[in-house]
Amino acid sequence: MNILITGATGFIASHTIVELHKAGHNIIGIDNLSNSSEEIIDKIAMITGEKIEFHKVDICDCQTLKTILSGKQIDCCMHFAGLKAVGESVAKPIEYYDNNIGGTITLLKVLKEIDCKNIIFSSSATVYGTPEFIPITEDCPKGICTNPYGWTKSMIEQILFDLQHADNSWNIVVLRYFNPIGAHPSGIIGENPNGIPNNLMPYITQVAFGKREKLFVYGNDYDTHDGTGVRDYIHVVDLAKGHVKALKALEDNCGLDIFNLGTGHGYSVLEVVKTFEKVNGVKIPYEIVARRPGDIAICYASSDKASKKLGWQAELSLEDMCRDSWNFQKRG
Ligand code: WQD
Repeated sequence: MNILITGATGFIASHTIVELHKAGHNIIGIDNLSNSSEEIIDKIAMITGEKIEFHKVDICDCQTLKTILSGKQIDCCMHFAGLKAVGESVAKPIEYYDNNIGGTITLLKVLKEIDCKNIIFSSSATVYGTPEFIPITEDCPKGICTNPYGWTKSMIEQILFDLQHADNSWNIVVLRYFNPIGAHPSGIIGENPNGIPNNLMPYITQVAFGKREKLFVYGNDYDTHDGTGVRDYIHVVDLAKGHVKALKALEDNCGLDIFNLGTGHGYSVLEVVKTFEKVNGVKIPYEIVARRPGDIAICYASSDKASKKLGWQAELSLEDMCRDSWNFQKRG
């Protein structure tokens, strides 16, 4: 298939391009490069042996998007592009709603114009808010998001649901990621956030690298086995493979379907720290501090539906995630 990838130089998209290439698909990548650089396209080529077609364009720029895409045969769009820093979204809600939701609406209009009505959307477990039950299945009710970033994911899902309801010639797959971490085993691509990392694993690897003095553990008074937050960490390569498998749902003319992409297992912050130390032979100094506003205690998936309907399940372990994250950080 000819696949349009938005946010192509991002963490999840870049790893997905590697797996799509491996599966024989043809990729057109677009990105506004606001949060990464075009050298990622070269790095992907170092892994796959082939440079994809890439265009620097913002999904909010309707005219340029039309110019680039008109006349192209696009079978499916995988939509990753979006601002995704939780804390930043609280400070800049208008930018997040404008970019993430406005950009998606523009993209959908252009896709319709070029007669591409197959889309896989990069969503997030954050749409469940404080989940009603654990493990979380896809029919768990969506909840109250704790930040504008989460709301943009939830609102975009609703836009897609309404679009498909209004025009059933659309095939829409929503993938709800849990906590993607790790890096390609080559260490050539991985998670490289700008500034101070919001997320746990890049912060840990920067502490190990000596870039940060210590990890601040946000609370040890949650109702979990060791008091620290529990999350469903999934290797980014497993997540990428889930996107390849999700194409099957489009080929089956699914109409609209939703899948959790998680491992089905929760690990606490301290379990991640201890595993990272053991696997990599490094010490991670940490200090327990106050809870982070908006954090929930426990979040992990049931991935049974993806297993049954897509024939996908995560295969890599927390040890693999820790090893590959550190390998990427060390390559710098
Ligand atoms: C994990 C755990 C923290 C940093 C968010 C988004 C989600 C997705 C993944 C984009 C929690 C603890 C963290 C630190 C810590 N993002 N922690 N010290 O919050 O589960 O999910 O990122 O797609 O949509 O909501 O991930 O990695 O920030 O936190 O103690 O310096 O680590 O409290 O328990 P989170 P996270």
